[in-house]
Amino acid sequence: MCGIIGFTGNIDAKEVLLQGLKALEYRGYDSAGISFFTDDKITTVKAVGKVSDLEGKAALFSNTSTKCGIGHTRWATHGGVTETNCHPHKSGRVTLIHNGIIENYKELAEELAEKGKQPISQTDTEIAAMVIDDCYKSNPLKAIRKAVKKLQGAYAFLIMFEDHPGSIYAIRNGSPLVATATKEGSVIASDMVALIKYSKDYFVLPEHHIAQLTSKSIKITDLDQNEVEPDMLHVNWDMAAARKGGYDYFMLKEIHEQPEALRNTISPRIKNNMPDFAADAIPDSLFSDLNRIIITACGTAMHAGLIGKNMIETLTRVPVSVDIASEFRYQNPILDKRTLVITISQSGETADTLAALRLARENGARTLSIVNVKGSSIARESEYVLYTHAGPEIAVASTKAYTVQLAVMYLIAFRFAFVKGTISNNEIVKLTKELEKIPGFVNEILSCDTSIEPISKKLLKTESLFFIGRGLDYALSCEGSIKLKEVSYIHSEAYAAGELKHGTISLITDNVPVIALATQENVFAKMISNIREVRSRGAMVIMIAGADAQVDASLCDHLITLPPIDDAFAPFGAAIILQYIAYYTAIARGLNVDQPRNLAKSVTVE
Ligand code: M6R
Repeated sequence: MCGIIGFTGNIDAKEVLLQGLKALEYRGYDSAGISFFTDDKITTVKAVGKVSDLEGKAALFSNTSTKCGIGHTRWATHGGVTETNCHPHKSGRVTLIHNGIIENYKELAEELAEKGKQPISQTDTEIAAMVIDDCYKSNPLKAIRKAVKKLQGAYAFLIMFEDHPGSIYAIRNGSPLVATATKEGSVIASDMVALIKYSKDYFVLPEHHIAQLTSKSIKITDLDQNEVEPDMLHVNWDMAAARKGGYDYFMLKEIHEQPEALRNTISPRIKNNMPDFAADAIPDSLFSDLNRIIITACGTAMHAGLIGKNMIETLTRVPVSVDIASEFRYQNPILDKRTLVITISQSGETADTLAALRLARENGARTLSIVNVKGSSIARESEYVLYTHAGPEIAVASTKAYTVQLAVMYLIAFRFAFVKGTISNNEIVKLTKELEKIPGFVNEILSCDTSIEPISKKLLKTESLFFIGRGLDYALSCEGSIKLKEVSYIHSEAYAAGELKHGTISLITDNVPVIALATQENVFAKMISNIREVRSRGAMVIMIAGADAQVDASLCDHLITLPPIDDAFAPFGAAIILQYIAYYTAIARGLNVDQPRNLAKSVTVE
């Protein structure tokens, strides 16, 4: 969602801000703005549209020297997409940018109105700026401390005070902020992608702590004014990982990065052909003590959970349920100390997943998170963490983060089965060896793009289509459907193949595309019957099947087969095919694959 960058130092701040906002474009936004100090005054430039539009407007100030400023990409929540609603917002001597939602902004606005103060925008953020300004006499730290007592909701703020040139103040509750002090100056942002240009070492601003950035240093104090030393973190990727590197889109680059991401995620966790979480500090007692698992996540991460459920239940016979994180809290979930709640999140910042995790902890459940972003909120708040090592995922559509989440789910299932003794060690060794082969298998499958691209072109004019599958293939259908929808804007639905005839088959008429996944031998015959049902009603069938599948030529219009692989691991191959279908369909429709409309990479509001 909203992207944040702040810089104060000895190089041109405008340039740092604009470059930072470009790096943050992937988060999804509809307008952008920057504010910077020129002598003792703050200048603000805003634009609806892209950062390039903002850049055009900022060019008017190309001869203006500035060493300190803040920048923002806005994903509208309160108030339409207008320049007035665009950040930064100014009230009196306060100029501020914000990621999050101030829930009590209406009451605060009423209090301010009683004092004769009226906002000019429709945003909750301007109200926050007004509250801080209202608390401000001459000491920024005092004003922030006083103001945040009044604010309810999630926020990450960067604030400049007109009478404190060269300083940026930051505070956060929920929404992330990372920062680093370098020889060029101090820089702070909503995520590492904007910081990596300056340093691989950084810290996450602790919640409810204030950072004061000057050109020389960053000082952190808690709300009781105690100075705090931050915990430094290090990322092992670099600028190149955050660039397209010759690919047209990040999505395609990230699809191609899957073999490496999988290798980095799987290899360090295999010792003597067995899954091993010792380096992740996860004790076997976590698994031996529990009698049920709940997996909770959103979107694609939740779909990885569906595959994980299947693997864990098959191998351990321990019941697993998968809950959409945004629903979890409202279902009055049954939680106790023998329940393990697994949260899955690429960003580690998804507000609903974080809230579900907090509820699980409050109710005494054990918690384990599968997260890609180091030091993110979900990682920090979980009892145990298994990091996926996918590197930065920039495209809004999740690809490599999904397959590495699957890999971690498989490792959990194997280790859990070992601890429970539900399958023999020989079987675990066999499964583990198969998993180790997955990066190579995925590498092999990547070359199928040449056959997928022409098939995707056939979907160009489609208005609506269906994905069908059974068992693991049904879980994959859900993922195939969300991927296609988000990047191609074609309506699609995922259906359990056997369920279609209970209502939805009425929508299957001549040439309605049906993407049928039939990679699982145990349900293959039943899938064939289901495919015949849609075929006989005129569907255009694209079938994805295992290497040995005997498929009658009349059954489908297009057949895509996987290279030979044990059925249990077929999802890794089918996922790549589904990602390609989504990607090439969106390309055929001339869309910006990396930044689909209305979507944000990391959904930090509930
Ligand atoms: O960062 P998270 O994994 O928690 O994000 C969850 C979903 O928002 C995310 O997977 C979303 O569904 C993707 N854009 C789908 O490609």
